[in-house]
Amino acid sequence: MTLRPLALAASLAAAIAGCKGEPTTTTTPAAASAPTASPDHVPPGVNAVQNEMRLLHEAMRDSVTAIADGHLQAIAESMHRVHRARELTEKAVEEKRYTLPKNADKLEEFKAKDDAFHQELEKLVAASTSNDAKATSEQLGVVLSKCSDCHTMFRR
Ligand code: HEC
Repeated sequence: MTLRPLALAASLAAAIAGCKGEPTTTTTPAAASAPTASPDHVPPGVNAVQNEMRLLHEAMRDSVTAIADGHLQAIAESMHRVHRARELTEKAVEEKRYTLPKNADKLEEFKAKDDAFHQELEKLVAASTSNDAKATSEQLGVVLSKCSDCHTMFRR
């Protein structure tokens, strides 16, 4: 398709205006600013999995920043918060205080996916603590590739 210069200018202007109008993040404001997540206790109005997921989201963003800054040691600390929150999740599941939003009857499958996922997180920590930038970046890709699979199955 060939655009006349004027049409091209108009569509460029529209594209730029469109960019400005779009939100800068696709996450919910609560998840983006994450004032309601804690590795030590589940805050009011949030369940244990949501709490853990918010910290996981932060840890993912921190990991990208750590790779960008060449400061891989920051990853372990951020991921440690996720592991502490996971203990709160395990306790809630054990005490039957947590119900999955979707496929609630497939709790065993959720636990298996969660176990496998946390093993991938441990590999990410291991790569980062050995200061291997390539392995860390590749493993971050592996970790991110697992989010949507579990969300499709268990999240509304
Ligand atoms: C083992 C399953 C599983 C994996 C893996 C997983 N999630 Fe989740 N996630 C869930 C479930 C279940 C919910 C819905 C929790 C609820 O509302 O009770 C959720 C919800 C979320 C939320 C919304 C939390 C809120 O504030 O309501 C975010 C953000 C999130 N996940 C991020 C991620 C990211 C990023 C990854 C990958 C790095 C990931 N999740 C991997 C199961 C998973």
